Amino acid sequence: MAAGDSLPAKTAHQMAVDGDQPPSKYIFNNTKFGPLKPLLLLLRCRSALTTWGCFQAVNHGLSDSYLDNLQQVTKQFFELPLEEKRKYFRETGSVEGYGNDMTYSENQVQDWCDRLFLQILPEDQRKLRFWPENPSNFRDTINDYTMKIKSISVVIFEAMAESLDLEEHCFSKHFTEEHDVLQGRFILYPPCPTPDQVLGLKAHSDRSGITLLLQDPGVEGLQVLNDGKWYMVPVIRDALFINLGDQMQILSNGIFKSPVHRVVTNKGKGRISVAMFTEPDPNK
Ligand code: OGA
Ligand code: NI
Repeated sequence: MAAGDSLPAKTAHQMAVDGDQPPSKYIFNNTKFGPLKPLLLLLRCRSALTTWGCFQAVNHGLSDSYLDNLQQVTKQFFELPLEEKRKYFRETGSVEGYGNDMTYSENQVQDWCDRLFLQILPEDQRKLRFWPENPSNFRDTINDYTMKIKSISVVIFEAMAESLDLEEHCFSKHFTEEHDVLQGRFILYPPCPTPDQVLGLKAHSDRSGITLLLQDPGVEGLQVLNDGKWYMVPVIRDALFINLGDQMQILSNGIFKSPVHRVVTNKGKGRISVAMFTEPDPNK
């Protein structure tokens, strides 16, 4: 029998039955292993990001009703008469505001969508003339969502770093500090009479660090290219779809992928999505 091997006065089972706290010799000292990380989660994160460059985030702390409200105010904005939305029209040569994306060449194929594009952070650079006053809770709703998105992105950037065994803040410090940029794109894809000929959004990759997308809970449309094939991203109620942008592909030396994606249209139903793009402070 090894030294120190005496029979305990009470078995673990008995202590549990008696409602005792575990004595000190039961306390597991984890300093040897460092802080416990949800290893499985990190490995999954790594494998998703190296093969697909995207994943669905659930358990992010935002409730169904919270996200429904965000969808709702976005929908209410798009349902306003054109005269009202016209107040927020994009100016030529600038990306911010309501309308379509910038046209760079005469031959550019147009996307079947309307969108409102806002630079949301840093706060002192907001151009409030593009921020809808109608519906009346639009600005507050977006402001609040922004704060939540910012903290969720910190967690994601840190998990991505840890999944590569890198210093925890090595990505978050580029995208989530005080003067870093957050852009919001609120998009309506109206029903389209010829969905096999017209895309809601052409194939592209995002230039962001990461993009956090709230999909329409009732309509699919987003597709991701993998191995030469297009895959429809399923709608999971209240999940945020996270995809990496080109800047994360570059920062991770190409280990993580910035996936090519597009949006297809359909005949029957309009679709609304809200995309948030994290970008670094351009003066960094
Ligand atoms: C984007 C984008 C997808 C969507 O805005 O860059 O890819 O489903 N949006 O709206
Ligand atoms: Ni995109």
